[in-house]
Order: sequence, then structure tokens, then C-alpha cells
Amino acid sequence: MYEKQLLLIPGPTMVPPRVLRAMAVPPVGHRSQKFSQVVREVSQNLKKVFQTERDVYILTASGTGAMEAAVTNFINPGDKVLVLVNGKFGDRFAKINARIGAEVIRKDFELGKSADPELVKEILTEDKGQEIKAVFVQQNETATGILNNIKAIKEAMGNHPALLIVDSISGMAVADFPVDEWGADVVIAGSQKAFMLPPGLAFITLSEKAWKVNETCKNYNYYFDLKAAKKNLAQDTTPYTPATSLILGLQESLNILLEEGLENIYKKQQMFKEIVREAVQALGLELVVKDEKAASPAITAVKVPEGLVWKDLNKLMLTNFNVEIAGGQDELKGKIFRIGHIGYVQDMDLLTAIAALEMALFQLGFVKDLGRGVRVCQEVILRYKGETK
Ligand SMILES: Cc1ncc(COP(=O)(O)O)c(C=O)c1O
Repeated sequence: MYEKQLLLIPGPTMVPPRVLRAMAVPPVGHRSQKFSQVVREVSQNLKKVFQTERDVYILTASGTGAMEAAVTNFINPGDKVLVLVNGKFGDRFAKINARIGAEVIRKDFELGKSADPELVKEILTEDKGQEIKAVFVQQNETATGILNNIKAIKEAMGNHPALLIVDSISGMAVADFPVDEWGADVVIAGSQKAFMLPPGLAFITLSEKAWKVNETCKNYNYYFDLKAAKKNLAQDTTPYTPATSLILGLQESLNILLEEGLENIYKKQQMFKEIVREAVQALGLELVVKDEKAASPAITAVKVPEGLVWKDLNKLMLTNFNVEIAGGQDELKGKIFRIGHIGYVQDMDLLTAIAALEMALFQLGFVKDLGRGVRVCQEVILRYKGETK
């Protein structure tokens, strides 16, 4: 029953049949007129999702490719950068910067805590020579389930000229992010999260200020040189052979997102967050992120209770109930698990997932009586759907 598996990891996420059908076609010429029309339409619709007037470039790469592009197009060896770290992906931004020889000022935040805008203000105010060239941050840190306040971070930067470079790979189309209005200079996203596609595409947009910085950059990348992406998008194409099937899928997934409407999606994601957070607590589990405002609407991180072996829980959920959730990464392996509620997910999927979690915990002796988690799930759903009788 593989095709019926509930894949509730924080990406890759489940893909809607409409998108699968759009991709199940013979290869199309990437320089053909027909495909250029698709690129044109997709670019326009990406701008709507990013809430930007600027171009959004499509890269054939996983999210890390876009992270690399977001560093190497702006940062030269020896440049100072500030990297805010809430988990593995913040750490990756620090590593990519270090790899090209940037001087990294790294600020790690405690597990479960969002990046502190006041600290950003302090560091940039102390940078009298205005040497810090960019501030790097995740909008949504997938590794720990943190949602950072990008608007507040931008405000905290004041008049400092540093670029604000945001990884919104698991945040875009999940939590509101009006890119132009909030003044983010570089923003990236990825196909296998809220865009409901398989992995393989990434998206990047740049402000005018970022383009100016790009002109002074030595740019060590050939494949990820954004000047080439800009030049080609002006002709409704991409510099190299793109993942054409994924772009055909993207055309359909953007239709789905825009039909649903961004506001409705953000509301739905808020409901998902409340369903999972309240239900796991009803099961006696502890959340990693206590502060509601800092809790991700895309993924919920939960502490593995003392005595429970994560691998046993994962295996039971998968083999008995066909539900896949994710474990912790790196040093969080075995200590936390993560339930993804991003992309092609509906409330009833989460009801099933919580039922599976509850039954697995029951089998492992960590839940005494059944029904609490499921009940809370139902209550939250009804709270949102207004049927309280
Ligand atoms: C916030 C964030 N940044 C970067 C990445 C890296 O993307 P990829 O694994 O597609 O290279 C991920 C992947 O999960 C992510 O969630």
C-alpha cells in the first residue's frame, strides 16, 4: 500500500494527483515555444507566491543549491557575514560561507528559541565600519520547527547596509512572507515542501540592492551564476537544461496554490500547527518549541520521552499504520521527532497520523488509554470548522 502511505516528514512531501498527471507526459524541448510559455506563466505565478514584483529564478537543484547560490553570488572570501542559527540549516549557511573563506559571525540560539532581533540590532550597531555584508537566516528552520520573525529581523537591521538573505525553503507558501514589503534582499524556496513537488527545483529572488552587491562579487560559481539566470529569464528560458517535468508539475502546483489562495493556506497551516501541538501534548509529550509565535506552521518538533527509542516508534508507525514521520538530525537524533504538516496535507491526514502515533505509543507502553490525542485533534478541527454542537 505504498501509494497510500501518509508521508508526513518535512519534505519531500506528498504530491497531488493533479501534479503527478501534469508531469506524466513525454519530454518537451526546453527551448521550444511551448515550454517558454510555461516558463513565462510559472515565473509570473511564482512572483505572486513570493509576493514580489521582482523576478523569481528557477534553479534545477535541491534547496542546498539555492543556499549556495544565495552565498556565492554575493560574498567574497574575507567578507564578514552574520549567520543566525536555529538548527541544521542555519549551520549549513555558516558552513557554505566558511567554505568560500568568509569571516563568519555565528549566533546560535537555544533549542526551541527563535532568532532574537535585539541581538541582530546589537551586533549591527556595534559594527561601526559597516563591514558585515549580509545577515543569513531561515524563515522556517525545518530541523527544529522554528519560525523566525523576518519582519522584526529586518526592522532590527535599521539603516545598516547588510543584505538580508533568507532561506524560506520550508516557509514559503506556509507562513506569510511578503518579500518586497518586508524588505528581504535574497529569498530562496524549494520544490519539495509547500510547492507539493518532488525534490529538484529551487527558487531565488533578489532585490536591486542585492544585484548591486552581485556586481562586486567575484562569483566562484558557473552553474549558479544568477546573471545567467537573469539574462535567460528575460527570454522566458533558463541558462541550462532545466528539470522540464518538474517545471510542468510546478505549473500545476502553482495553479493549486493560487486557487486555494495564500491567505487560506496560511490559515490552514495555523490550524495544522494547533492540531498537532495540542494533540501531542494530550498524549503527554513535550513540545520542543514552547512559544506559540516561534512555533512553525510547517512542522512540529516533539521531544522523545525518557525511555522511548525513537527508532521503535518510527518502525511501528510505518509498518503497522503506514504513516511516516521524521526523526531528529545530527545531534538531535533520537532526542526529538518531527511531524511535517506541509504541502498536500489535509486535517483528516493529521487525525490519522495522531491516531497512529497514539496507537504506537500505546503498544510501546507510553500511553495508558486510547482516544485522548484523537479527541483533541477532532476538537481543534471543529474549532476551526465552526461545528461545536
Ligand atoms: C530550511 C531548509 N533549508 C535548506 C534545506 C536543504 O534543502 P535540500 O535538502 O533540498 O538540499 C532544507 C531541506 O530540508 C530546509 O528545510
